[in-house]
Amino acid sequence: MSGMQHSTYTPKTGIGRWVDARMPLPRLMYDSFVAYPVPRNLNYAYTFGGILSLMLVAQILTGVVLAMHYAANSGLAFNSVEGIMRDVNNGWLLRYMHSTGASFFFIAVYIHMFRGLYYGSYKAPRELLWILGCIIYLLMMATAFMGYVLPWGQMSFWGATVITGFFSAIPLVGDWIQQLLIGGFAVGNPTLNRFFSLHYLLPFMIAGVVILHIWALHVAGQTNPTGIEVKSKGDTVPFSPHATVKDGFAMIVFLFIFAYFIFYIPNFLGHADNYVEANPLKTPSEIVPEWYFLPFYAILRAITFNIGPINSKLGGVLVMFGSIVLLFIVPWLDTSKVRSAVYRPWYKLFFWIFIADVVMLGWIGAKPPEGIYPTLALLGAVWYYVHFLIILPVLGLIETPKRMPNSITEAVLEKNGGSAHPAGAAAAPQTKG
Ligand code: HEM
Repeated sequence: MSGMQHSTYTPKTGIGRWVDARMPLPRLMYDSFVAYPVPRNLNYAYTFGGILSLMLVAQILTGVVLAMHYAANSGLAFNSVEGIMRDVNNGWLLRYMHSTGASFFFIAVYIHMFRGLYYGSYKAPRELLWILGCIIYLLMMATAFMGYVLPWGQMSFWGATVITGFFSAIPLVGDWIQQLLIGGFAVGNPTLNRFFSLHYLLPFMIAGVVILHIWALHVAGQTNPTGIEVKSKGDTVPFSPHATVKDGFAMIVFLFIFAYFIFYIPNFLGHADNYVEANPLKTPSEIVPEWYFLPFYAILRAITFNIGPINSKLGGVLVMFGSIVLLFIVPWLDTSKVRSAVYRPWYKLFFWIFIADVVMLGWIGAKPPEGIYPTLALLGAVWYYVHFLIILPVLGLIETPKRMPNSITEAVLEKNGGSAHPAGAAAAPQTKG
């Protein structure tokens, strides 16, 4: 079912009709979030898009207020943050909401992305929707990285030094790019100024891309756990109250867990060294990024050897960026005609192996690069590539999918012990392409 179905909005007041004839924004909202048909079998994995929207708004609101008390100057930044924690009314709450909020934003986005991989949400006709998501993810990573630099603690400073240093590995223009990024020859006040400026700007760009993301979503309509497209009106329910209530309930549960972290373990996901002011003369014993970057950090450090003319540093950078580029082309790597993992027993197995691989990489990312860890990191990185470049294309060609119901309604009724479909019914094709 497409988002371009006939509008059923009828303004009830004179003012409503007046506005509707001039700028039908209420109509757009009604058609998108009240009458909009959603598949009747959506599960809780489909509530994270809503949770992400909520988190984006929360990050922008807390961030704007934090910026009123923050001083983006390398001589003042650290103390201004301590001032927010101690002297600003509820400043500690604002800051913990924002810093823990970044982590919870990433928890939600990872669940959202893995949902997409599991149910094949990226398949035609939703490739652009997926790619817009990947762009959002890149912007989120850039925003979080620069935000972490702002308190100007030891980990801020050294994290910025290490990460911007990787750009210098790019041949010919690398040094120039690095200097442009940090505004000089070493991380310092100019770095902090530009990072603050961009950290304030990017969330609004994310918001813009989110609008495109939801636009694309409403053209194709949502998928659902069966992966079978909506075929009749009976396959859907109106967004309100069904999705509104389910999303709302999921948000409340999510916010309770979020609140537990804010109020009881606000620094659990952070690093103690960031409560020590940045000192360019003292390198911390270990430099680790925030948890949500750890799998990529492990991939980056997995390349400890030169590959032909490519030295290990450049090799690591290429392999790390490549691991993100792979996400963009997933719609074309997966050759399966069947969308959802529910009907793909082998894909389901490899999906969970992939999750285990990413978790292992994350665990290694936090370990010092010595002993068994670099070897494990290399194996993990190789598997990451194998999953996308070999498993996905090959599995789609050789896997025998399970027998599928003919429609969403049939799948739902079957599950509830209702009438099974007639024996020998042909499996319904899931994708258009
Ligand atoms: C700020 C970040 C994001 C926001 C606010 C957001 C918002 C949403 C919303 C509201 C939906 C519909 C509800 C749902 O399916 O959960 C959705 C669906 C979707 N999102 Fe996102 N999203 C974000 C990031 C991402 C990222 C990073 C990706 C992938 C890399 C992605 C890929 C998708 C896909 C493929 C769908 C369609 C799911 C389906 O119908 O099967 N999104 N998004």
